[in-house]
Amino acid sequence: MSNEAVNQNIPPKNGAAKSGKKTTKTVKKTPPPPMPDERPEWGALGRHAQKMKNTHMRDLFANDPERGTRYAIDVEGFYCDFSKNIMTDETLDLLIGLARACDLEGWREKMFTGEKINVTENRAVLHTALRRPAEDIVEVDGENVMPFVHEVLGRMQQFSDSVRNGTWRGFTDKEVTDVVNIGIGGSDLGPYMVCEALKPFAHERIRMHFVSNVDGAHIDETLKAINPETTLFLIASKTFTTQETMANAQTAKSWLLNHYSGDTAAIAKHFAALSTNEPAVQDFGIDSANMFPFKDWVGGRYSLWSAIGMPIAISIGFDRFRQLLDGAHAMDRHFCEAPLERNMPVILGLLGLWYRCFFGAQSTAILPYDQHLHRLPAYLQQADMESNGKQVDRYGRRLRFPTGPILFGEPGTNGQHAFYQLIHQGAALIPCDFIASISTRNPVGNHHQLLLSNVLAQPRALMNGRSLADSGKDPQKVFEGNRPSNVLLVDHMDPYHLGMMIALYEHKIFVQGMIWGLNPYDQWGVELGKVLAKDVLGRWDEAQCDGLDSSTAELFKRIRFRFQSWQDL
Ligand code: F6P
Repeated sequence: MSNEAVNQNIPPKNGAAKSGKKTTKTVKKTPPPPMPDERPEWGALGRHAQKMKNTHMRDLFANDPERGTRYAIDVEGFYCDFSKNIMTDETLDLLIGLARACDLEGWREKMFTGEKINVTENRAVLHTALRRPAEDIVEVDGENVMPFVHEVLGRMQQFSDSVRNGTWRGFTDKEVTDVVNIGIGGSDLGPYMVCEALKPFAHERIRMHFVSNVDGAHIDETLKAINPETTLFLIASKTFTTQETMANAQTAKSWLLNHYSGDTAAIAKHFAALSTNEPAVQDFGIDSANMFPFKDWVGGRYSLWSAIGMPIAISIGFDRFRQLLDGAHAMDRHFCEAPLERNMPVILGLLGLWYRCFFGAQSTAILPYDQHLHRLPAYLQQADMESNGKQVDRYGRRLRFPTGPILFGEPGTNGQHAFYQLIHQGAALIPCDFIASISTRNPVGNHHQLLLSNVLAQPRALMNGRSLADSGKDPQKVFEGNRPSNVLLVDHMDPYHLGMMIALYEHKIFVQGMIWGLNPYDQWGVELGKVLAKDVLGRWDEAQCDGLDSSTAELFKRIRFRFQSWQDL
């Protein structure tokens, strides 16, 4: 689909962003609305859930031959079958009633128009602006952000093209053969996941490496495999202060300078920065000309669409990176325009909430039947768990119901031989998302047919189960069934459809966060660990244990006193 077509009727629905009307407002300090569980819609869902717990999907399918097609949505060839869920039309009506009561549509408009819905950090949430066309207008604090977005995209295009076509040269005039992205969390998981997912499109000469862990093994093993004269380091950090990233970046810089006998002129040819923090980038020694910026309204876990996507643009080429953005924009448009009843992110978000809050489901499995998507579960863990892993709402009130689920997963069919046993016969209800692509870029024998047969078999087995009679009267072999799942299916897992899928999950997380009343866009929960790690580091030289609990003190002593002898080995 052309850009133009995608951009007709773009969000927001009221056209405010298109018209150039000022859209930035702060959330008004009015009395907080009721919490979702104080609303009559929540009570109605609770009562309905009691009834649905005695309903088997087998019967729902038997009574409705159209169920498999009625409960499915197709957006530009991205197909979502949500029929294998413990739900009826009444369930959906009640869930959508709750979404409306919680003003999901209002919050959606606030996000797309740049209102500062990240209230604890007083920031807009505008990763969606990163995939909008240049002619749109989206204002933050009275300034249209779109020229900045497209200026950076233009610079990313030039830079990634030059690395790919060999005009970007290292200090000794050699082409780049290895790109090392140094970053962590959102500055690693997104670009890493996408580069792996789209490996069939990768540049033949350029190997991509992703170093995240502060464990020296990660950078050390990477450096052993590369040549300083043909390596480009991308230091990816929104804040440019993250301990792990800065430690790895310093090690990489020392390694490079060591090779060039300390000649700092080499840095400009081998280092670029992807960040919001220009002074820190300069302090590190990276030229501003090699810095690709983004703004604080891009959350780390939503940043692969920004300059943080540079490794993607280098690996698959800028045009395909653009297709990724276009796919995400198509999903944005669907999210903003489709009625809630036929809206993929809304339906998936509501079904997730249904099981989490009314069936006690604690986790969700992400099961891509696509080896290239092997980092998707890890990526979605951060996207979902760092966003909705919270118990206090945006007004500071403690919530009385469970929120973000535990996400886990592995590519199929590997997971089938590992943890599926528990999903089929264990005590926990674990809703699953199966993801598959009908075509493959690695056509080898009948492998793809085998893979696709498995992805059809598993949701069916989870739904139907197997009765005692069909199990030879052996209770060990009985499957209760009635285990819910969604199937996401595309013709090709190309950049466009991958972009759609990532945006789908982003909006699913948004839907749940808005109904629960959370702020999905901060992450105060990761701060305490960072502060305490600094505290321990400060105690290191003096081996100072004052104020530590007895367990931490003993562990610290054992580590501290034996550390040097291990270092010396
Ligand atoms: O883990 C906390 C966190 O702030 C993530 O949200 C973020 O993606 C990551 O650290 C990395 O942050 P930065 O890009 O600033 O280095």
